[in-house]
Amino acid sequence: MALSQDISPVNSDVMSDVLVHADKLEWIPNRFDPERQFMKVLWTGPETGRTAVLIRTLTGSATPPHKHLGDAHVFMLKGRLQVRDSELVAGDYLYEANGMIHGETKALEDTEYLMILGGPILFFDENNFLGYQGWEEFHRDQQAHSA
Ligand SMILES: [Fe+2]
Repeated sequence: MALSQDISPVNSDVMSDVLVHADKLEWIPNRFDPERQFMKVLWTGPETGRTAVLIRTLTGSATPPHKHLGDAHVFMLKGRLQVRDSELVAGDYLYEANGMIHGETKALEDTEYLMILGGPILFFDENNFLGYQGWEEFHRDQQAHSA
């Protein structure tokens, strides 16, 4: 059947599905707490700077204060996570806006959660910038651990 309008993609050569069997990926130590925080990079999008990543944090570990340079969607899969005045458990969803600055998040139990990031995260403490993590860092970490 011919449609009345051409909807074929112009850039079809760069389109392909990305199917990831996450259970087969290794947990990659997180640069800010490599003993207690880990990730599996599911997807990075060079065109948009977006990232999909699974995060695993062990009880007591804390993600440093940070600023989001893009929006963030979080879906809890396991455990309990202290986020400001709230506690996230499996099944909970959290949205963090582009530009948002907030304090540390702490694992009250071993956690796993899915994060969809619209841009990098800039980490800091009272005195210094600790670094940032965007799609390029996720990509490099993934490449380093799949070689
Ligand atoms: Fe955050």
